[in-house]
Amino acid sequence: MTHRIDMAAYRRIVILTGAGVSAASGLDTFRGHGGLWRQFDAEACATATALRTDPLRVWRLISFMRRGAKTAKPNPAHQAIVALENKLRATQSLTVVTQNIDGLHQRAGSHGVIELHGRLSHTRCANPRCSLKPFEDWELYETQTPRCEKCGAVLRPDVVLFEELLPPDAYRACDDAVRACDLFLAVGTSCTVHPACDFVFTAKDHGATAILVNLEPPENAVDVFDEIHLGPAEELLPALLG
Ligand code: OAD
Repeated sequence: MTHRIDMAAYRRIVILTGAGVSAASGLDTFRGHGGLWRQFDAEACATATALRTDPLRVWRLISFMRRGAKTAKPNPAHQAIVALENKLRATQSLTVVTQNIDGLHQRAGSHGVIELHGRLSHTRCANPRCSLKPFEDWELYETQTPRCEKCGAVLRPDVVLFEELLPPDAYRACDDAVRACDLFLAVGTSCTVHPACDFVFTAKDHGATAILVNLEPPENAVDVFDEIHLGPAEELLPALLG
């Protein structure tokens, strides 16, 4: 039986989420059977090199993901995190950090979500010197790469591709929160992608309790967690967070 986590015992809580949190909303995870990286070649579709050499392949992946995310609804895992935020005492804080780009935490009502890997919902110019600001865009680009109306360069999704750094502000905010937290809760992530998978070590080095909620045991970092709860996040989180 799943026991509740005594959330009242913690003052600074960080929840790091991954694709497993959105599985019950009908969105594919990346790894494992049926995962996105079995349907799309990550190197050809999700790298900075791919964006330079064949941007339409990047856009086909992003269009596929936009099609799913645009109409997806938050599930009980997202809602349990919102419920936790709503019942925090004045002395407590919650920072939600996500590797997901689907925007479902915000759609559920979470505030101040740190998006480590960017957002599907926005497009920006690939030219770093262009003055075009990132803009909301749910268009699907499957036959032609869009171009910037200001400078003519390729437009790109506002997401982090492999070979790229995380947005510095998001990384810094996350690192600060992790160093200061006393509870680090990772949910629905395979704990395989750097640097997000390293945060649990930082949290433990600074004295936090580390808990994982995931369908399967992680490949790495098994020993670092104080507790591992195996099962679907949409069932376990509402129970664990009470
Ligand atoms: P993964 O696909 O690597 O891992 C998802 C994890 O969720 C797996 O360990 C599953 O067992 C678990 N899972 C599946 N369904 C679940 C459920 N209902 N409840 C709980 N857990 C469930 O996804 P991430 O760890 O998020 O980055 O991947 C991290 C990054 O790798 C992504 O942000 C993406 C990807 O490449 C970029 O594209 C930059």
